[in-house]
Formats: sequence, C-alpha cells, structure tokens
Amino acid sequence: MDKQIEITYKVYKDSSELNEIEQKLYEEAKNIRKKAYAPYSDFYVGCSVLLKNGEIVVGNNQENAAYPSGTCAERVALSWLSANFPNEIIKKVFIVGAPKNISKKTKAVPPCGFCRQAISEYEYKQKENIEIYFASTSGEIFKVQSIKSLLPFTFDSDFL
Ligand code: THU
Repeated sequence: MDKQIEITYKVYKDSSELNEIEQKLYEEAKNIRKKAYAPYSDFYVGCSVLLKNGEIVVGNNQENAAYPSGTCAERVALSWLSANFPNEIIKKVFIVGAPKNISKKTKAVPPCGFCRQAISEYEYKQKENIEIYFASTSGEIFKVQSIKSLLPFTFDSDFL
C-alpha cells in the first residue's frame, strides 16, 4: 500500500515579512555567519537560537583540514547551548547560509541531515517543538513548525 507524508511550510518572500523577533534572529544569524571559519568550502553559515527565556545564542560553521572533522553552524550553536544551559527550552532556530562572497542570488539553505538529527534530539528532549527558519543572506525565507517536517521517520531514543 502506498502512503504519503505531507509537510506544511511557510515561505516569506523576504525579511520584510518577518516579525520583530524573527528579524532580530535573521540579523544575528547573518552577523555570526560573517565570522564562520570555513576556509575549505568558503561556504559560510550562521545560526541563531531563540530560547524561551528570550535570550539568543549563536554559532557558525567551523571547518578542519581533515574535512569531516568540521562542524556545522547549527551544531556549534546547539552544542554550546546544551553544554552550558542544558535545561533551557529552545523556541526557534534560524539558519543562514551562502558562499562567502555571494556573487549571485542564492536559495534558502536548509539544515543538513546531520543537523536535522541533532535538532531532533533536542526537540525530543524538551518535549516542545522547535520552529526552524532557513534562508540565504537575502531573498526567500522558509519556516517549518517542527523538525518532524524536515525529518519524518525520525530515529530517537524510543527505539533504543
Ligand atoms: N554547513 C552548515 O554549517 N550547516 C548546514 O546545515 C549545511 C552545511 C556547513 C558545513 C561546511 O562547513 C559548509 O557548510 C559546506 O558544506
């Protein structure tokens, strides 16, 4: 029997359609993106995380000469958060990715599979959904209400 999974996502035509806090998150992600350490790919990613207490935590991608040793922006931000404030609830994650020197219009950059799994772990742990926004440095912004939209058939600790 064939079955289908439907996901709902929102598309903002640009940042002018975001509300105040969303715009702040976008700015923070764009700012921290500029400080990425990505000399091998020259692909710069920034991530801002809004906590329930109103604070914002940020991170960017950190690469390595041994390529697989690098870490994505999302996991830099979320690992630091989890290490320092393990009980804070995450409300929103905003991801901005683009080549270092953007020469052409780029598309909204979604989180990689590894980062989807990491976000899923924290969403599962806190038992509250995490809204995820992803974008480039300009143009369209996509939003999903939960990591479940980006990672159906999630593997979580229920299986262990
Ligand atoms: N990257 C991220 O930081 N987040 C993602 O979700 C996608 C990829 C980084 C990893 C690497 O440093 C560069 O972008 C190119 O893949």
